Formats: sequence, structure tokens, C-alpha cells
Amino acid sequence: MDKFLFLYSPSTSAGVMDLQYFLCWRIAPLFLLMPCGLHCMSVHILNEEPVYVIPGSSLDLKAQIKRGHLEDISTITWEHEPETGFNIERVTLATCSGRSLKCAGTRPNVRVSTEQQETTLQINGYTTADSGVYSLTVTDRQGANTSTQCIVREYEAVHHVSVSINVSHSLLVCTEAWGTDPRFSWRHESADITKAVGKVSNNGTILIITISPLCGHFTCIVSNKLGHSSATYTAAPCETENRSATAAVVCLLLLLSLGGVLAFLLWRRYRHNNRGERLHEHLDDTI
Ligand SMILES: *[C@@H]1O[C@H](CO)[C@@H](O)[C@H](O)[C@H]1NC(C)=O
Repeated sequence: MDKFLFLYSPSTSAGVMDLQYFLCWRIAPLFLLMPCGLHCMSVHILNEEPVYVIPGSSLDLKAQIKRGHLEDISTITWEHEPETGFNIERVTLATCSGRSLKCAGTRPNVRVSTEQQETTLQINGYTTADSGVYSLTVTDRQGANTSTQCIVREYEAVHHVSVSINVSHSLLVCTEAWGTDPRFSWRHESADITKAVGKVSNNGTILIITISPLCGHFTCIVSNKLGHSSATYTAAPCETENRSATAAVVCLLLLLSLGGVLAFLLWRRYRHNNRGERLHEHLDDTI
């Protein structure tokens, strides 16, 4: 307050000075005496929103209470309500109250603790019904409330992957329906995408094709923490592959026929030799 006066006093008139004195010495103490409720305390959930939880695992929400001393807090309440729907009903999950802010959950799988300037909520064995809006309300001794909310959703598996072609722009576009945090990757003929084949966009959903003419199998693989799913776009067979396949077939046929000819020659020689011997034996008998 002194600083405030020094800054302005040299250049201001006496009338303004009086007003400032009045403001500083008569009104300012009133602010100091006011209950430090809404204006001072703040609560803040530290998790990144929205929070995604895999069913069966546990949901952990952590919140920070700022500028409020634990002695000033009378109650901490954690509540839950669905995110959408017609009959949105807010349900109390846990409350912490009393001098030592003792916490109690309303369900066996709910755990709440409050320490220092932090309060945590844990729900074990998360189910779809636990998705929704979580509210945290801190009430001070004067009865003033401060609250914050956080959206929690179920972590969903990858669904319905598909690949479509944009012929005019030589693009392959991969889409996925509603999986959480999908990661996209591409393969061509079961191998990684090389510069000769194409270029994958930054988010991975688009493959800009450079291979010409367009040929082979292009597979888009979408994955997240729960697994992966894929879809394939099949173009005309690649020529190089065709040529080598034909060459292989021709080679095989040549080898087979060569083998056949060799076998035939051996068989003929064997038969010839046998007949010769038999002739000899016959002659020996008659002599
Ligand atoms: C093809 O891609 C271009 C560029 O992304 C886009 O403007 C166009 O609408 C696409 N065409 C079709 C048929 O999707």
C-alpha cells in the first residue's frame, strides 16, 4: 500500500491523494477481513482430459487444492454423473470431512484419500457405467464451495478399419470408427513402405502413392493399447512379381522335362541290357 502511494504521490493533486488514502486505509482492511472463500481457494484435477480407462483396470484421479489450508476445509466431495442421457443423476462417490478430513467411499471399490494439498479418487474394476463427469467440490469452514470437473471415458478397441482410394490424387485413405488413440501404419506386399512405393502422411491415415502403375496389396494397420485391426486395398498384381513367377514356372517345367527325358533314357538302357542278358542265357541253354 505504501508503494502504491509513493508511485502516484509526486505527480497527483491533493484531492486525488485524499481519495487514495481513503481507498487504502478505509476500504482495503475490509477486503482483508472478508472470508477467504471462493476468492482464495482453487481446485484443479491433474489428469489430462478426457481420461481414458480400460475396463477392468482402475481409474485414478488426482486433484490439487491451491491457496487453501487444510484447516480451512470442512468437506471434500467426489461425485459422478453420466456425460449424456435424459435422467442425469449426480451420485456421491466419497466424502472427506471432520478435523482430519477422514474419507469414506459410498461403494466398496471406491477409495479416496486426502493428504497435504492433494486429494485422490480411485475406482477399482472400472466398468462402462463408471464413464461420465466426475466432480470434486471443496467446501471451506464458511460454507463457500469451489469445484472442478473432469470427463472420464472408456478406452475402446479399434473398430471397422477400411481403406479407400482417391484415384484423382493417387491417395489411399485409411479410416477407423471409434477406437481410442488409434495409430496408423502401412505395408505394401507385407513390407514397409519405401520411397519407391509411397509416402505416409504425418498422422498416418493417408498414403500418397508414388509407385506406378499402381499394383499389389496395400494394408493399413490400426492399433492401440487393446490390439490392432487392418484392411487391405488390392490393386492389379505387380508385373515384376508376375515375370519372376512365370520364370520360376518355366524353370520348373524345363527341369521336370529334363528329368523325364533322363529317366526315360536310363530305363531304355536298363531294358536293353536286360534283354541282352536274357538272350545270352537262352543261347547258353540251347547249346
Ligand atoms: C481426393 O483428395 C483430394 C485432396 O485431399 C480431395 O480434395 C478430394 O475431395 C478427394 N476426392 C475424393 C473423391 O475423395
